[in-house]
Amino acid sequence: RSARAVAAAMSVFVTRRIPAEGLRVLSQASGCRVQQWDSEEPVPRAELLAGVAGTRGLLCLLSDRIDREVLEAAGPDLKVISTLSVGFDHLALDEIKKRGIRVGYTPDVLTDATAELSVALLLSACRRLPEAAEQVKSGGWTTWKPLWMCGYGLSDSTVGIIGLGRIGQAVARRLKPFGVRKFLYTGSGPKPETAAEFGAEFVPLMRLAEESDFVVVTCALTPATQGMCNKDFFGRMKKTSVFVNTSRGAVVNQEDLYDALAHGQIAAAGLDVTTPEPLPTDHPLLSLKNCVILPHIGSATYATRSTMAVLAANNLLAGLRGEPMPHELKL
Ligand code: NDP
Ligand code: DGY
Repeated sequence: RSARAVAAAMSVFVTRRIPAEGLRVLSQASGCRVQQWDSEEPVPRAELLAGVAGTRGLLCLLSDRIDREVLEAAGPDLKVISTLSVGFDHLALDEIKKRGIRVGYTPDVLTDATAELSVALLLSACRRLPEAAEQVKSGGWTTWKPLWMCGYGLSDSTVGIIGLGRIGQAVARRLKPFGVRKFLYTGSGPKPETAAEFGAEFVPLMRLAEESDFVVVTCALTPATQGMCNKDFFGRMKKTSVFVNTSRGAVVNQEDLYDALAHGQIAAAGLDVTTPEPLPTDHPLLSLKNCVILPHIGSATYATRSTMAVLAANNLLAGLRGEPMPHELKL
């Protein structure tokens, strides 16, 4: 093949500034021609549509909606989409599959970091850490008071995990040594071999809501899970229970969560993900003391993000070369 044909075969568009290690993998690959939206901020839609035109490979982020419009702008040469995420709800998989495009993603490498953040968020919410730290700064800390800044602990508790997948299991593994008495889980069906490690019991969603002292959401966003944590769900939870979501914001009906938190239907919540992202600074949830909200930082350790970028780059290259990808999403 001519040098020009090789270059065309390996042309890729990267939709954001990514960790240098990942970009290096692409730029050092023989014949790979990289175009990049080299910014910390998301690529404007028009630039995305222009950037993908005629490209063979697309390295995208969870904040890029890859739908029919993007695929049509890319044209028939697009062969591989590699997302710098394990979640793939931003990809129109039916359209992608129709066009025979392969998809790479980044499972496993971010499981530990995300589970760790989930535990940090749970502890922040149940022991009221941001609220307490604020009291120190504002002078609200006047003396040690027996009834002040009390929360709820994990010891002897029941923890319900919605989605006992890679991250759900890693969360349970980390919570177990805190003295959790019982794990419940829900999902598309029981998985006794996985659950055995935690002695976890498979229960319907509403039973999980009723019996859990802590609910941790670690499922994928799908049509079945969208809006699953709603008024009915929060209405079944105990007034002393704490809700944590590190999956995707759309799994939760935020108006219903606001009502549950504001009216004391549940004790507290910790969210790493919201709808929309970023959450507007005047959003009602941000006015609540019993709601801890983080800016989608589950996988945000330097090492994890670097490993994710290298994996996403290697997925892309393998796809372009027609080789097995390190992590391909089977469509
Ligand atoms: P997995 O695929 O391993 O786990 C997803 C789980 O979702 C599965 O266990 C699945 O259960 C469960 N699930 C699917 N349908 C339902 C349902 N109807 N009800 C309850 N559970 C359901 O993925 P990971 O653990 O690797 O990641 C999970 C999600 O976490 C990602 O999709 C992503 O959205 C999010 N994430 C967020 C991060 C952050 O920064 N906050 C970082 C990384 C991931 P079953 O096996 O029974 O089908
Ligand atoms: C993912 O990978 O899906 C997260 O949301 C970010 O790491």
